[in-house]
Amino acid sequence: MTDSILRFPEGFVWGAATSAYQIEGGVTEGGRGPSIWDTFCRIEGKVFQGHTGDVACDHYHRYTEDVELMRTLGLHAYRFSIAWPRILPEGRGEVNPEGLDFYDRLVDALLAAGIQPFATLYHWDLPQALQDVGGWASRDTVGAFCEYADAVSRRLGDRVKNWITHNEPEVVAFAGHAWGRHAPGLQDMATALQVAHHLLLSHGEAVPILRENGGAGTQVGITLNLAPVHPASPAAEDVAAARRRDGYLNRWFLDPLYKGSYPEDMLAFYGQLAPTVQPGDMARIAAPLDFLGVNYYTRNVVRDDPESPEVRSRLVMPEGAEVTEMGWEVYPRGLYELLMRLRDDYRPPAIYITENGAAFPDEATPDGRVFDPRRIAYLERHLRQAHRAIQDGVPLKGYFVWSLLDNFEWSHGYSKRFGLVYVFYPTQQRIIKESGHWYRQVIERNGLVE
Ligand code: FCB
Repeated sequence: MTDSILRFPEGFVWGAATSAYQIEGGVTEGGRGPSIWDTFCRIEGKVFQGHTGDVACDHYHRYTEDVELMRTLGLHAYRFSIAWPRILPEGRGEVNPEGLDFYDRLVDALLAAGIQPFATLYHWDLPQALQDVGGWASRDTVGAFCEYADAVSRRLGDRVKNWITHNEPEVVAFAGHAWGRHAPGLQDMATALQVAHHLLLSHGEAVPILRENGGAGTQVGITLNLAPVHPASPAAEDVAAARRRDGYLNRWFLDPLYKGSYPEDMLAFYGQLAPTVQPGDMARIAAPLDFLGVNYYTRNVVRDDPESPEVRSRLVMPEGAEVTEMGWEVYPRGLYELLMRLRDDYRPPAIYITENGAAFPDEATPDGRVFDPRRIAYLERHLRQAHRAIQDGVPLKGYFVWSLLDNFEWSHGYSKRFGLVYVFYPTQQRIIKESGHWYRQVIERNGLVE
């Protein structure tokens, strides 16, 4: 008897994702200038055991081997990011041809392997030279981003057909400028809100540039980190806290992109802290998009907390929750809930899950295998929810596992392993984990065994 398969729609795109600073290394090679993460990693106490992205997975030198791994996994698509400081080492002005050459070679290698490139322009590695003149808090950085988007898409737009402007502007704005947990490490809420506005504006202004340079078939989107927000109790204060957190995390980004305005309740809540918006900004931010990229890892369960700087709400862990190595609750149903809400409230014409995955403390056996059943279970359970959402009318077109490789997990350094492929850092040896072999079969079958 053949197994019955929970099949995904024909043409569903199966992929995996990475980002430049997390895997490339080679930070002083090929004319690359420093980024804010190079700087941040050197501030004592910011990154686990002082780890840096200096070498990371050495992908800058090993990209052909990594494309071979993707081919072995059977990936249809690969989401990677371009390092702005490789293209414009000073942030703007002189374009560095060697930087463009690297991505040119990568894209050609992908296409030769039958893998579609999905390129993210900004996955957090702002050139330090731009930070030195104000970074994302300065409106000038919007123009710099457009120059960068133009340079990259002129060179690659004939072959890269799927573009993502930004990865997770909420994290860039708030982890970087309000909570101080990410580069550049600032702690000021008004700055963070202005940064969020500039990120959205730079997105909106880059959209027509990417379309024009890319020509026929070009698809442009943005990737947001989104999550359903649930109150920790039915108490009115907790329900209100959940609504605020939803406004902060989800609606603050979705409403401008899809409705051309910031949510009224949050504007009222932020009051004086709200960003300066110039005439015409909101219309530009709401430029129609081909797809929405969704990064989903967990839900938010929140309690009212007047002391908390995070919109007076505090994240709590539900009792008995199953958690990953990141301390994030495993909550697959949240993916279905989120996708249905996007369908109902924002109606994007297409959605890709641009990241979903889990960190676990993987180890290689002496004979070179990595058994990671919890990752397989995590991915499988989320895929079932994604499938359910498709059945219920969500235009979900593809799914990217975070991540292709174990890599530099920001402030956690190399201590968290998210890969389908294990990386033994001292030698840079790669080993496909059991989850990678499992994923290859999912792709082959275009579905899950029921
Ligand atoms: C997301 C980031 C990605 C990775 C995963 C675990 O927030 O986009 O770079 O760190 O989390």
